[in-house]
Amino acid sequence: MQKITQIKEGRTMHYGFDGKVALVTGAGSGIGRAAALGFATSGARVVVSDVNETSGNETVDMIKAAGGAAVFQKCDVSNGGEVKALVARAVSEFGGLDFAHNNAGINSMMANEYEDEIWARSVSINLTGVMLCMREESEVMLKAGKGAIVNTASINGLVGNGAQPGYVATKHGVVGLTRHGALRWAQQGIRVNAVCPGVVETGMTAPLAANPDMRKVLDGMTPMGRMGKPEEIASAVLWLCSAEASFVTGHAMVIDGGATAV
Ligand SMILES: NC(=O)c1ccc[n+]([C@@H]2O[C@H](COP(=O)([O-])OP(=O)(O)OC[C@H]3O[C@@H](n4cnc5c(N)ncnc54)[C@H](O)[C@@H]3O)[C@@H](O)[C@H]2O)c1
Repeated sequence: MQKITQIKEGRTMHYGFDGKVALVTGAGSGIGRAAALGFATSGARVVVSDVNETSGNETVDMIKAAGGAAVFQKCDVSNGGEVKALVARAVSEFGGLDFAHNNAGINSMMANEYEDEIWARSVSINLTGVMLCMREESEVMLKAGKGAIVNTASINGLVGNGAQPGYVATKHGVVGLTRHGALRWAQQGIRVNAVCPGVVETGMTAPLAANPDMRKVLDGMTPMGRMGKPEEIASAVLWLCSAEASFVTGHAMVIDGGATAV
C-alpha cells in the first residue's frame, strides 16, 4: 500500500477502500484519471473505462505500476449495450460494484451547439450517458443493498453561460438526474451525488490554455486566480463515496475556487 500512495501526488488521505470496487468513465484523462488513481490509492480495485483505448490503458498501467489493481473496459457511454457490458465487467472481474464515478463528458467549446449534430452529441454523451450508467450501476447496487454514485456535472449545471446551450442544459440535467437518483434509492443504501467543477486543467481545457493570452483569461475566471487541478476534483469524488459522507445524498458539490461565489 505504501507504494501506491505515491501516485496521488503528495496527497495523504486514504479512505480505506480495500476490498471495494470502483468504476470510472472517462478515466483516460483529466478528472477521471485522477479519480481512478485516487480510488486505487485508497485500496479499491478499479474498472477504468474510456472511449479512448490508448489513454484508458495508460491509466491502468499507471495504477498497476504503483501496485494497484485495475482493468480497462472500452465504453462509449452513449451506447447502452457498451454501458451494460462495462458494469457487467466490474461484476465478472471483481465481484461487484461499490462506487461509480460517471465522469465522461464533452465540451464543444467554440462550436455552435444550436447545430443539430453538435446538440445531439452533447445530449447523448453528457446526459444520456449518465442516465445509462446510473441505470446499469443501480441494478448491481440494489442487489447488494449498497453503493455510491458520483456524477461529474459542472458549475454550468448550476449557473448558465451564454455561449453553450448544449453544455449548460446537459449539465443541469446531470444535476437533475443526481437528485432523482438520490430520492429514488435513498432507502435502498445507494447514495447519489454530483461534483460541479469550475475551470480545471485537463485535456478538455488544454487546447485553450495552450494559448498564453487565453490561459490568463481562464485563470482570471476564478477568484483564486488559477485553474483547478484534476486531483482537487477527485478528492471530492473519493470523499463523497466514502463512509465519511454517509448522510450526504442528492448533493451537487461545487469545487470552483470561488467562481460561483461572485
Ligand atoms: N475541465 C474542466 O474545466 C471541467 C469543468 C467542469 C466540468 N468538467 C467535466 O469533467 C468531466 C471530465 O472532463 P475532463 O475535464 O477531465 O476532460 P478530458 O477531456 O481530460 O477527459 C474526458 C475523458 O472522457 C472521454 N470521453 C469522451 N467522450 C466519451 C464517451 N462518449 N464515452 C466515454 N468516454 C468519453 C475522453 O476520451 C476523455 O478521456 C466532463 O464531464 C466535463 O464536462 C470539466
